[in-house]
Amino acid sequence: MLRRVPLILAIESSCVETAVAIVCGGPGRAAEVLASEVASQIELHREFGGVVPELASRNHSLHLRPLIEQALAHAGVTVAEVDAFAATTGPGLASSLLIGSTAAKAMACASRKPFLGINHLEGHLLSPFVGHTRVPPHLALIVSGGHTLLLDVGGPGIYQKLGSTRDDAAGEAFDKVGKMLGLPYPGGPEIERVARGGNPAAFDFPRSMLHDPHLDFSFSGLKTAVLYTLQRQPSPPPVADLAASFQQAVIEILVGKSLKAAQRTRHRVLAISGGVSLNLPLRAALARACQRARLELLIAPPDLCTDNAAMIAFAALLRHLAGESSPLDADIHPNLPLV
Ligand code: KG4
Ligand code: ZN
Repeated sequence: MLRRVPLILAIESSCVETAVAIVCGGPGRAAEVLASEVASQIELHREFGGVVPELASRNHSLHLRPLIEQALAHAGVTVAEVDAFAATTGPGLASSLLIGSTAAKAMACASRKPFLGINHLEGHLLSPFVGHTRVPPHLALIVSGGHTLLLDVGGPGIYQKLGSTRDDAAGEAFDKVGKMLGLPYPGGPEIERVARGGNPAAFDFPRSMLHDPHLDFSFSGLKTAVLYTLQRQPSPPPVADLAASFQQAVIEILVGKSLKAAQRTRHRVLAISGGVSLNLPLRAALARACQRARLELLIAPPDLCTDNAAMIAFAALLRHLAGESSPLDADIHPNLPLV
């Protein structure tokens, strides 16, 4: 195969998704995702009501090799044609991160090609720009199971933290409230589903820190308010109303803080990423607010919102094009910060 642009193979294994992707792209050209394979273990962990780290790493090692072969076949390329190998090196579960990063390093070592260790959060942050020719200065909101982060982005690799959660992440709050309401793991999509039949104004839950001048978030008070309200309800409790009212509070907090950050930074583009950005009422509320404030809203396509390797390959491609690589003895970092 004749190729003019670098080809990157990336592995994501920070939590319960084993993922392999192959992306190609050159300077000033939109990156192209040639393959993006994901094997989710969510079903396996559901019976435990959350993630079991030992189970996660064992399943990553079972799924990884067939997924790599599948990705190469879908992309129509051979390992020898890959220009650099990348993997998520943090944040995430230590034993899971080790599986993906060791595999990517082994391939890089055997092929005598560079290895790139990528921050999972940088993958999410850049995911709305896969398929774009450049990453412009913008305001970024990452809302995932482990993080809620507002960032001032000057360009690839130029990140300044504006605010983050002081306790639970937005996705974590969805998951914990889902569990309280007796919904299956993960709670986010389940709350969105049952909330469709509920009244978002039924319960007036707190919008913690919404009117504080800083740009940090707090979701644990909201979670506790749902718990206490639930305990006062008759049996069976009004799950749809509780879910809809909780979801509405999260949406108002995320939208309010994002707009405050946009005013402060004067950015004209808001890019939102991470699993919670799949939430349709959140997307609709952000779209309305951004239209009123004349902000351009960018949200990654659904398959790039939850954990995937295409976002890791894209982040690695930008670093590879900038001449960067990581040493083969680069460690994994379960609590790796982005900034
Ligand atoms: O980005 P992600 O796949 O993994 C992490 O890096 O954490 O995000 C997973 C989180 C979970 O907390 C899940 O409940 C939440 O995203 N999520 C949602 C929705 N879909 C997934 N939250 C709200 N509404 C959804 N539709
Ligand atoms: Zn993630």
